[in-house]
Amino acid sequence: MAFNPTPTQLKGIKAAIFSLALVPLARMVWLTVSGQLVEPLEFITRGTGSWALYFLCITLTVTPLRRLSKMNWLIKLRRMFGLYAFFYAFLHFTTFLWFDHFFDVAGMFRDVAKRPFILVGFTAFVLLIPLAVTSTNAMVKRLGGKRWIWLHRLIYLIAPLGILHFWWMRAGKSNFTEPFIFGAIVAVLLGARVYWSWAGSKSRAAQTSGG
Ligand code: HEM
Repeated sequence: MAFNPTPTQLKGIKAAIFSLALVPLARMVWLTVSGQLVEPLEFITRGTGSWALYFLCITLTVTPLRRLSKMNWLIKLRRMFGLYAFFYAFLHFTTFLWFDHFFDVAGMFRDVAKRPFILVGFTAFVLLIPLAVTSTNAMVKRLGGKRWIWLHRLIYLIAPLGILHFWWMRAGKSNFTEPFIFGAIVAVLLGARVYWSWAGSKSRAAQTSGG
C-alpha cells in the first residue's frame, strides 16, 4: 500500500524539505565568507542558477510521481518546491544585478539586451513572478481554479526557456552534457503531462459519444 503520512508526519516532511532546501545557500554563503573561493561571483551565479533549475525539475516531477505512485499527498509539497525554484532564481538574478552591475538597472538591461542567453534567462525569471505571486490558497480562490491552472501552464514555457538559457551559456564552451541531460529530463516531465492530458480528453470524448 502507498505510504500516506499522518498530518504530523507531513509537517515533519515539510519542515525537513524546507531546511534541506536552504543547505545549498548556506554552503555558498559559508564558502564565500570564509574566503575559500577563488571566483565567488562566478560560483554564486552558477550555484544559484543550477539550484533554480534543480527545483524547477523537482517541481515538475511532483505530478507524474504522484500519478505513478498514487501518493496524492505529494501534491502538498509542490508549492514549496516551486517557491524554492523562484527563490533561487531570484538570488541568481540579484547576484547578477548586484555583482555584475552594482544595482545599475539601466546598465543591466543594456547587458540583458546584448547577450541573448541572459535575455532568455531573464524572460524565464519574469514569467516565474506571476506563478510565485499566485501560489497562495487565497490567490487560487481569487483567480478561480480554471484561470489559475491556465496561468500556471506558463511552466511549459519557463522550463524550456531555463534549458535554452543553460544551453546557450554552455554553447560558448561547447559543453553540452549537463544542458542535454536537463533538457531530456524536462522533455520527459512535460511530455508525460501532455500525453496524460491528451489521453484523458480522448477517453472523456469516448465516454461522451458512448453514453
Ligand atoms: C528561471 C530562471 C533561470 C534559470 C533556471 C537559470 C539557470 C542558469 C544555469 C543552470 C546556469 C549555468 C550554471 C552552471 O554553469 O553551472 C546559469 C548561468 C547564468 N545565468 Fe541564469 N538562470 C535563470 C535566470 C537568469 C537571469 C534572470 C539572469 C540575469 C538577468 C541570469 C544570468 C545568468 C548568467 C550571467 C549566467 C552565467 C554565469 C557565468 O558564466 O559564470 N540567469 N543560469
